[in-house]
Formats: sequence, C-alpha cells, structure tokens
Amino acid sequence: MAVSERVVEKAVEVRVDRVTKYFGGLVAVDNVSMDIEPRKVTLIIGPNGSGKTTLLNIISGYYKPDKGRVFYRGADITGLPPHKINSLGLARTFQIPKPFQNLTVLENMLVAARFNPGERMTASLFKARWIKTEEALVEKAFTILRELNLDKVWDQRASSLSGGQMKLLEIGRVLMNDASTILMDEPVAGVLPSLAIDIFKMIRELVEKRNITFIIIEHRLDVALGFVDYVYAMARGKVISQGTPEKVINDPLVQESYLQG
Ligand SMILES: Nc1ncnc2c1ncn2[C@@H]1O[C@H](COP(=O)(O)OP(=O)(O)O)[C@@H](O)[C@H]1O
Ligand SMILES: [Mg+2]
Repeated sequence: MAVSERVVEKAVEVRVDRVTKYFGGLVAVDNVSMDIEPRKVTLIIGPNGSGKTTLLNIISGYYKPDKGRVFYRGADITGLPPHKINSLGLARTFQIPKPFQNLTVLENMLVAARFNPGERMTASLFKARWIKTEEALVEKAFTILRELNLDKVWDQRASSLSGGQMKLLEIGRVLMNDASTILMDEPVAGVLPSLAIDIFKMIRELVEKRNITFIIIEHRLDVALGFVDYVYAMARGKVISQGTPEKVINDPLVQESYLQG
C-alpha cells in the first residue's frame, strides 16, 4: 500500500468482519461487516428482529458467530468469553438486576469494580492494602458519579432513581471497570423525552472527556440521530445502509425496511 493511502486510512476500534449467526434454520446475522471508529458514537438501527441485539451479543462475547471474525483494536477477540473481552475495555451495559437495586448508587459502583478478579485476589492478601484499594475505589466512583451527575444521589437506593438516572448508573458501572468502548442496547427505551436527551448529551460528553467509543442500538431516532456520528441500518440480518445520520435516514432502502416492519 502506498504511503499516501495509509495516511487517509481510518483508525478502527471494533471491526466486525463478515459475521454470520444462525439460530437453527434462521440466519439472525447475515454476513455483516462494520468498522467502528474510536471516539465516535455509532448507532445501529433497524426494525425488530433485524439482528441488532444478536450482533451486540456477538461483539461482547455472549454468542459465538458461526462465520466471520471480530477484532478489538486489531486483536482477534472472536469466541473469547465475555469477561475476557470486558477486561480488554470493551463492555456492554446491562440492566441492574433487582437485588442490586436495593443497594445504594455508590454500592452499585463498588460492587461493579469487585467483579475485577485480579484486584480482589491481590488486595485480599493484606488488610492495609485492601483498605487503600477500597479508598481508591470510592474516590474513583465519586469522580465518575460527578461526571454523570449522580454524585448528589450517591447514598440513595438504585431503585429510587429515575429511569434516566438508572441508565447513567449502568454506564457508571462499566466505567468503574475502565471500559473504553461501551455497547448499549436501547438506552433510552421507556425514558421520558427530556431525560432521553440528557442521556445522549452525557454520552457525547463521555466521548469528549474520556475518549469513550460508543456503539448504540436505539429505536428512538428522534432523540438519537442528533447525537451520533455514524449510522448502520440493518434489515433481516444484513447491513442495508451506512453513513451519516442524514444519509442513512433518507436512504429509500431504509425507509422501505421500516414500512415493511
Ligand atoms: N436466542 C435466540 N434463539 C433463537 N432465535 C433468536 C435468538 N435471539 C434472537 N433470535 C432471532 O434472531 C432474529 C434477530 O433477533 P435480534 O437480534 O433480537 O433482533 P433485534 O435486536 O434487531 O430486534 C429474530 O428473528 C429473533 O427471533
Ligand atoms: Mg434487540
């Protein structure tokens, strides 16, 4: 490759390379390729059943693809278990389970960090060191909570948070584990319009302040489109359009796929 060509080559954070996933006779994801740029918000859209969640589960290691590879920062992560992928900095947010909702906001942050087995092992060896680690974790949690505007509710039970605050706490939990690429499945589903906009504003701020890369599935295009850099549209397991939000949303193929549901 000529040097001049190399200069314009875009950096790729996550590369999905011709990935296919079957469920029995059904092809849920059909030969999908994506290049996700670092420090951008990439949106994946498409009608119900088009394979978006399955693709997210493949990227984060919850499903193995039947064909194709997934790369993270150049490394082949295909088939690695979720916790390994997570420890590389590629994390998926999850709804906070019921028992955890009885914990406070701060406790939820600390528990998330505890899932880091390396730290737990070494820290438990010496009490003094353990206490230091605790202090550092609390400090880290507060730094993140301040950025997410959750510091004032640090001692409230998670169950008392608004739907929007709960989503921010889900992001906070993966940031505790030093995630630098965050995958989210419908982060503003069921969230009030003004709060939904706040969440996307926060996502943008995390891109600027923490250099986080986001890959987001979202149906509420009215909210999401103004905050994202790049869009992939899927239908029946395939990518049918990609580009700027404006380009994709005006693509007749995309409009047609939504009409067909
Ligand atoms: N675990 C599963 N077992 C069988 N079929 C599944 C499973 N998960 C998803 N599917 C099917 O795969 C297709 C894609 O689903 P999904 O990835 O959830 O789509 P989307 O998130 O775009 O709504 C659908 O037809 C769905 O019914
Ligand atoms: Mg889905």
